[in-house]
Amino acid sequence: MKPTRQSRRNFLKTAGAAIGAPMIVPSHVLGLGDKPAPSNRITMGVVGWGMMGPGNTNDFMGLDDCQVVAACDIDKDALGQAVGSINRFYKNEDCKGYHDYKEMMARKDIDAVMLAVPDNWHALTATEAAKNGKDIYGEKPLARTIKEQQAIVNSVKANKRIWQTGSWQRSVDNFHKGAEIVRNGLIGKITHVEVGLPAGHHDFAGTKDKMTVTDPPARLDYETWIGPATMEPYIEGRIHKNWRWNYNIGGGQLLDWIGHHCDIAHWGLGKDDDGPVEIEGVGEFPAKDAVWNTATKYRIESKYADGITMTIAGGHGDIRSGTKWIGTDGWVWVDRGGFDASNEEWKKMKRLPEDQRKVSLFYSPGHHRNFIDCVKSREATLTPAEVAHHSAIPGHLGLIAMLVGHKIKWDPAKEEILGDAEASKLLMRDYRAPYALG
Ligand SMILES: NC(=O)c1ccc[n+]([C@@H]2O[C@H](COP(=O)([O-])OP(=O)(O)OC[C@H]3O[C@@H](n4cnc5c(N)ncnc54)[C@H](O)[C@@H]3O)[C@@H](O)[C@H]2O)c1
Repeated sequence: MKPTRQSRRNFLKTAGAAIGAPMIVPSHVLGLGDKPAPSNRITMGVVGWGMMGPGNTNDFMGLDDCQVVAACDIDKDALGQAVGSINRFYKNEDCKGYHDYKEMMARKDIDAVMLAVPDNWHALTATEAAKNGKDIYGEKPLARTIKEQQAIVNSVKANKRIWQTGSWQRSVDNFHKGAEIVRNGLIGKITHVEVGLPAGHHDFAGTKDKMTVTDPPARLDYETWIGPATMEPYIEGRIHKNWRWNYNIGGGQLLDWIGHHCDIAHWGLGKDDDGPVEIEGVGEFPAKDAVWNTATKYRIESKYADGITMTIAGGHGDIRSGTKWIGTDGWVWVDRGGFDASNEEWKKMKRLPEDQRKVSLFYSPGHHRNFIDCVKSREATLTPAEVAHHSAIPGHLGLIAMLVGHKIKWDPAKEEILGDAEASKLLMRDYRAPYALG
């Protein structure tokens, strides 16, 4: 007999629920070849349909054993586009639209969620999802502040959830090859790492000339869009896509990119659970009252306990975009579409030969694929929450060092700034009532 969705869920409640694993009935039992029946796919709800949400959703819809059944956005136009795209893909009307992510996450028939909301909303949406027993594909940087990141890590762990971060570069060949070369000691002992990020601001939404205060459009629930951040008048130039250029919501180019190139740097260094002990930084900032007020040029120098130093920079010609590890016997550089190294042989190969892979880093079948695989197997993904947390910490600390204007000291084990009340205050931001990080 073909099990119904209801019967599978009821079965799950009694059988596999203790470990929170969705149970998949093999497709051959149902006579469907390799494709699982709709009632046996991992069901997903997606939150945020802006620049990143649609791409992530398309990748999940492209997986046979995944079914997107719900979409949420607080902009009616975006929500309409989300529901329309998803239903067009499946040629049905099954995707339900939500204004309130909590209502969507309360649904018992949703296994996992994809979160692609601005950084001010990362912690609240992620912890709500974890509390509701959802596995989570969440975006980088893990959150707007270090304390919010800690809340996500703790909630995911406490609720035994599977988490994949959108730091998809780990699923791309050249980054994998670069990190494996470094991890296998082929450039000797690492002395220094350069992390080159973009500078300036990029007008993603084409709203750079919309910098005056107006009423919010009726389609957008602006009050909720601001969420736990400080209430500010509506200015179109700092809303969709371009919010990242204002510190109230995002963290500028530095935090937009730290979860990509510093994530790769840490992967190669084997520092997925580590962080620097000393950080100092200088930046060039627009006028304080500018609508786009994030640093346009910055340079952060940090040191790890083992003596390795790292420069993170945007807008400095001597630091090339991407990640460059420098060791006693050579160097490797990687970027999107780019690979270079001190050894010509490494440039020609797709992957490191097996005999040189004494440390073999997980070779991803695809970033979204890896998430769904892990939802089923309950194994850790390529980029769990605690990895994203550590990948973003050097960026957060760098920003804090720039803002306070002096060197700060960090205890990576206790995750505390040492002896510096001014800097420590910036590990968290006050939440606007009634929002609270539970
Ligand atoms: N991995 C990558 O390569 C990559 C690339 C771009 C963006 N991102 C990340 O994706 C996230 C989203 O960025 P974006 O550029 O897509 O932003 P965006 O502004 O384009 O889209 C965000 C959407 O979320 C909606 N939203 C905001 N608050 C909401 C809430 N409380 N409930 C429901 N919907 C809400 C907005 O209305 C908007 O439609 C960010 O964390 C960003 O850093 C990752």
